[in-house]
Amino acid sequence: MSSPIQIPGKMRTVAASVSPTTTNIHDRFASLHRQESLNVRQPRVLHPVENEGLRLLILENISMEAVNAFKAQGLHVDHYTKAMSEDELLQKIGSYHGIGIRSKTKITERVLKAATKLLVIGCFCIGTNQVDLKAAASAGIPVFNSPFSNSRSVAELVMSELVVLSRQLFERSYELRQGLWNKQSKGCWEVRGKTLGIVGYGHIGSQLSVLAEAFGIRVIFFDVINLMPLGSARQVESLDALLSEADFVTLHVPELPETINMISRDQLTLMKKGAYLINNARGKVVDIPALIESLKSGHLAGAALDVFPSEPGSNGSPFDDQVNPWASTLRSLHNVILTPHIGGSTEEAQRMIGQEVSQAVLRYIGLGSTIGAVNFPEVDLRAITAEEGDHVRVCYVHKNQPGVLKLVNETFAPYNVEKQYSDSKGEVAYLMADIANVSPMDITSLQESIRRTDANILTRFLA
Ligand SMILES: NC(=O)c1ccc[n+]([C@@H]2O[C@H](COP(=O)([O-])OP(=O)(O)OC[C@H]3O[C@@H](n4cnc5c(N)ncnc54)[C@H](O)[C@@H]3O)[C@@H](O)[C@H]2O)c1
Repeated sequence: MSSPIQIPGKMRTVAASVSPTTTNIHDRFASLHRQESLNVRQPRVLHPVENEGLRLLILENISMEAVNAFKAQGLHVDHYTKAMSEDELLQKIGSYHGIGIRSKTKITERVLKAATKLLVIGCFCIGTNQVDLKAAASAGIPVFNSPFSNSRSVAELVMSELVVLSRQLFERSYELRQGLWNKQSKGCWEVRGKTLGIVGYGHIGSQLSVLAEAFGIRVIFFDVINLMPLGSARQVESLDALLSEADFVTLHVPELPETINMISRDQLTLMKKGAYLINNARGKVVDIPALIESLKSGHLAGAALDVFPSEPGSNGSPFDDQVNPWASTLRSLHNVILTPHIGGSTEEAQRMIGQEVSQAVLRYIGLGSTIGAVNFPEVDLRAITAEEGDHVRVCYVHKNQPGVLKLVNETFAPYNVEKQYSDSKGEVAYLMADIANVSPMDITSLQESIRRTDANILTRFLA
């Protein structure tokens, strides 16, 4: 059911008081400038013309901050701590406009077919392979995630691993827990003055660079693109150059065909004797049997691994030779830190994920913005201001085929299109347009014309 368009009042003006002691030209200019900057054009809060009373299904114990952010915008939220099976989802999903999940709830094509009202999916995690992204895009549903909220957490973990490895901290601690006093300094080093080689200078690598320099560590990095080094860090020309110069090598590249086994026997041989390898990126980036060989021979002094080619699916599962054939050998080596993919697992990262994904979901519902969507063209328009009371925003998800824009613009022709932007990704395209001087009655006929276009997947009007 359509709700009337809200026509808010005029632009809000905040009055600035001018001090009676303002005497010289500079003061007067400054106070004028201040007045002008306070006459800010306030963005207007938009509401879906249809779908009033939006309902969200939030699963898997997503942070309360996210739930509260949704509620604060007047959305109805059903919040569950557990994941839902496909059958449970098939029963429930039909009455929801949005769903928030983590990694355990699978959004399959069958679920999407049953999701007749669904507008948006929020993955409150890093990965999105639990969602059939293509089927979601074809149904006009953008999927948002939070790929970089835990960069700082990973960088801090690496900092701790540098010190723990170079002081053989876990071995000493293990011995003392066994009742053995073994005070020694041989083979234990400060990290100050050592060289850290960062492979992949993206979100994590660059954060780490700054933290490491604060410890007095020299930083070199290798990346496939030329990047501005932070602080005194230095980009080197090749992976080989980095490997032969660094005392610590830490990996922060994505898993790609060219990064699988990028650290294998030849690369380990190039590393300095007594160097350390740290992998918090993806398990397949390191050839682990070759690493085991290097550690056993004493060429490398230690390693820290947070990620593995195969990882158990749930907590409490064994990490044994059935998961990875070399697991028991790896577990028996000295000065090797093994952690269960916890690089990004902190309370802060979870909070950031909650904030980032809830904001992206709200921006899509309220403003139509798809910036950050993983399966959708990324489109946004600057806000409609409070004084633009008769403007309507059209959000038109359509099939990426010839002739669509001509048809749509013919429909818009009687109005003034204030701004418009469209983009495509694969078979799906998305157009946003702000149109002026649209009366509430015009909206219905505009909606009908646009929805009648062959290419229409999902059209929403915000006003
Ligand atoms: N252990 C964890 O819990 C955890 C948490 C978050 C991220 N990660 C992983 O960490 C890795 C890095 O994450 P990020 O957020 O910094 O990614 P990012 O995309 O910001 O940075 C990756 C960098 O690697 C570079 N790169 C790509 N291919 C390369 C190659 N062949 N050689 C050298 N550089 C190359 C890219 O140019 C980019 O600068 C990813 O694999 C991610 O999945 C792990």
